[in-house]
Amino acid sequence: MSAISTYSLNDHTVLPAIGFGTYPLKGEEGIEAMTSALEVGYRMLDTAVNYENEVEVGEALRRSGLPRAEVVIASKIPGRDHAYDDAIASVRGSLERLGIEQLDLGLIHWPNPSVNKYVEAWRALIALREEGLVRSIGVSNFTKAHLNRIIAESGVTPAVNQIEMHPRFPQAEMRAVHERLGIRTEAWSPMGKRQAPLEEQAVTAAAKAHGVTPGQVILRWHLQLGSLPIPKSATPARQQQNLDVFGFELTDAEVAAISALGVPDGRLFGGDPDTHEEM
Ligand SMILES: NC(=O)c1ccc[n+]([C@@H]2O[C@H](COP(=O)([O-])OP(=O)(O)OC[C@H]3O[C@@H](n4cnc5c(N)ncnc54)[C@H](OP(=O)(O)O)[C@@H]3O)[C@@H](O)[C@H]2O)c1
Repeated sequence: MSAISTYSLNDHTVLPAIGFGTYPLKGEEGIEAMTSALEVGYRMLDTAVNYENEVEVGEALRRSGLPRAEVVIASKIPGRDHAYDDAIASVRGSLERLGIEQLDLGLIHWPNPSVNKYVEAWRALIALREEGLVRSIGVSNFTKAHLNRIIAESGVTPAVNQIEMHPRFPQAEMRAVHERLGIRTEAWSPMGKRQAPLEEQAVTAAAKAHGVTPGQVILRWHLQLGSLPIPKSATPARQQQNLDVFGFELTDAEVAAISALGVPDGRLFGGDPDTHEEM
């Protein structure tokens, strides 16, 4: 298997080009799935307060025996904790549950515009970074307007925005916004979850041409668009397969054909940041 590539962020830190999604892995089974992911080579685990599995993520990290500095741990502040002091306490709570001293990547999970406190949460992340409790700071599910607002009000640009992105919802517009602002696109539900277009001709043809699986084609498509996908799999064989995407390259035509699977209503249920709010 070829080595995992990396992405440099606007704060000069580096992330693996693929991370491991941990929702909804929980309990002993969850720990085993995460430990297996670290064993097959993942070096970034994506969790959130709302996944209620930070304890399991910390346990998997320790069971793996890997040096702390080799694994990126990302977590997210929930909507109910956007007030400044609550956001600070939220991250401290995450560190405690994870059993680590510093979060490598701290994100605001959803903007929850009706609450209108995401700027406070952003200021808290800036302070936590200054204090050394978080290494890189970013957001999730932020629209162009939300990004522009936090940047204008704080002068600090997020290192990443983790958004829904998969072949049915390729996010061309948000990727262009990120490119302009110097923000790395991180992709949640990168396969498209249960609606993964694993049998679409654009995907199967590329899989056949490169001697890989449809899932590998989709993840490679992400990489070639500059996105950092965080696929979840509880199956060790798929975990390994999903990481083995650095030894082939899709043609421009193949990338375009997969992007053409995008449709205006291609979002998964509940993925619209303007209407979906998560406390
Ligand atoms: N920021 C946010 O608001 C937000 C929202 C949703 C998700 N997330 C994050 O994103 C991560 C990933 O998203 P997700 O779990 O929703 O979707 P996903 O990674 O697109 O899809 C996961 C599903 O695809 C299956 N799968 C994985 N690899 C496969 C392959 N190679 N071939 C066929 N099927 C495959 C998995 O099954 P098996 O497990 O059986 O292999 C699982 O059912 C989450 O775990 C979470 O960390 C963030």
